[in-house]
Amino acid sequence: MKTHGYTYQTTLAASERVHWRVEDLIGDDKKLDFSKPMMPESFARVEPLTFLNPHERLALNHIRALGYLYTFGLVEEFIVPFVLDQARPQLHGDSYAVRSLLNFAAEEAKHIHLFRRFREEFERAFGTPCEEIGPPDAVAKAVLAHQPLGVALAILHIEWMTLKHWTDAVQDNQRLDPQFRSLLKHHWMEESQHAKIDTLMVEEMASGVDGPAIDHAFEEYLEIGGMIDGALKQQVEFDIENLARATGRKLSKSEREVFTTTQLQGQRWTYLGSGMTHPNFVTTLGEVRPAAAEKLATIAPVFC
Ligand SMILES: [Fe+2]
Ligand SMILES: [Fe+2]
Repeated sequence: MKTHGYTYQTTLAASERVHWRVEDLIGDDKKLDFSKPMMPESFARVEPLTFLNPHERLALNHIRALGYLYTFGLVEEFIVPFVLDQARPQLHGDSYAVRSLLNFAAEEAKHIHLFRRFREEFERAFGTPCEEIGPPDAVAKAVLAHQPLGVALAILHIEWMTLKHWTDAVQDNQRLDPQFRSLLKHHWMEESQHAKIDTLMVEEMASGVDGPAIDHAFEEYLEIGGMIDGALKQQVEFDIENLARATGRKLSKSEREVFTTTQLQGQRWTYLGSGMTHPNFVTTLGEVRPAAAEKLATIAPVFC
């Protein structure tokens, strides 16, 4: 039983009302302000690291912002080919569906460009090279090796999570760098349509298969989540070294333990927990397979 009224026609119309260019958001006089935090504290979790001085905590916030730019670069890389694959079989079908899907892929390609341009600006101004998870093509290949419904669930998770990042953590936070806020706002403006299109995709895929097949797809979604979690653990290790390179601050053994626990939980909430617990994601999952939503509810607290 559907609880939403999404259609390809209305999401396409909404998408056509959104207009922004990458060049409008970054470059020329639109520079990142490194005197301000870029990531909201609910994601960055630098304040509990009281053994770092304010300068070091701000640098870590910026390192986490760069990580956000890289992580979204990674996920957008697998969304584009996946959505294009979904569009091709529909080419002679519903015109609104084809146009919505092609538009969705084009917007994600624009987002890859957007995140890349922000990374370039960041890296030029920050001055210290940072190590980041990847490479994007290898991650995309590993994710796309899963079955389509599992990947579609992972993408639905990502779309709703992106909306939550803006509305819950950034929209009312005037302390953050205006350029980074603008990035999240403009990303959200287009992801709002993607979340609806992906809901329709998940429903269509699930309607063509039986319950055990949905269970299998859900396991694949969890497997993709597990891969992302492994990458986040790796990123926390990289960030210890990134912080040392940027500030000269080396952590003691006990500081390192606190850093790892706190930062991993911040990473997990940013990319996993905030999507797993999004009410719209949970509702769609529960509608296609109630048992899967119940299982997710038992797993999600680890990532929140
Ligand atoms: Fe995107
Ligand atoms: Fe998207």
